Amino acid sequence: MERLTTAAARNIFYGGSIFFFVIFALLVGNSYMQARDIELNHPISADAARGKRVWEKKACFDCHTLFGEGARFAPELGKVWLKYGGDKDPASAEETFKAWFAAQPSRTEGRHQMPQLHLSDGDVHDMAEFLRWTALVDTQNWPPQPKK
Ligand code: HEC
Repeated sequence: MERLTTAAARNIFYGGSIFFFVIFALLVGNSYMQARDIELNHPISADAARGKRVWEKKACFDCHTLFGEGARFAPELGKVWLKYGGDKDPASAEETFKAWFAAQPSRTEGRHQMPQLHLSDGDVHDMAEFLRWTALVDTQNWPPQPKK
């Protein structure tokens, strides 16, 4: 039976460590380049930055996920801007948001309820800009959508 010598074990240890470190470094570099690409090509506007603060202040993540982060009580919102047709008609998508926020809670039997959050028109606009920005991010279909 062949025995693994100490030298061979050491070589496997160092070789393996270096090999996986190189892969790790390449992946970090790749993520960095992708993040940079988003930053340069989709700069975040002042309105969208304010919208993110509204997201935090009103704790939307207590119920919703954004890119899969948050609570799973309510729908994922990363691409909701596209669901409301914002890529084709931004003004009408913003109106839809406004009507949605105004109509909560819907009190529809059997559905989770979204509370009335008392967003000002400015908050709604900033939130729309923020969700417009998130919709641009290529998340490579993350999070996966449950099959209907
Ligand atoms: C207490 C929980 C809760 C909080 C906090 C909350 N939501 Fe909701 N939200 C819901 C629920 C539940 C639904 C789904 C309601 C339904 O389908 O009738 C919903 C639905 C939505 C929808 C429609 C989603 C779709 O796919 O059409 C949008 C947009 C939305 N919320 C935005 C927000 C934003 C922005 C905030 C923060 C300012 C927020 N929500 C805070 C519970 C919440």
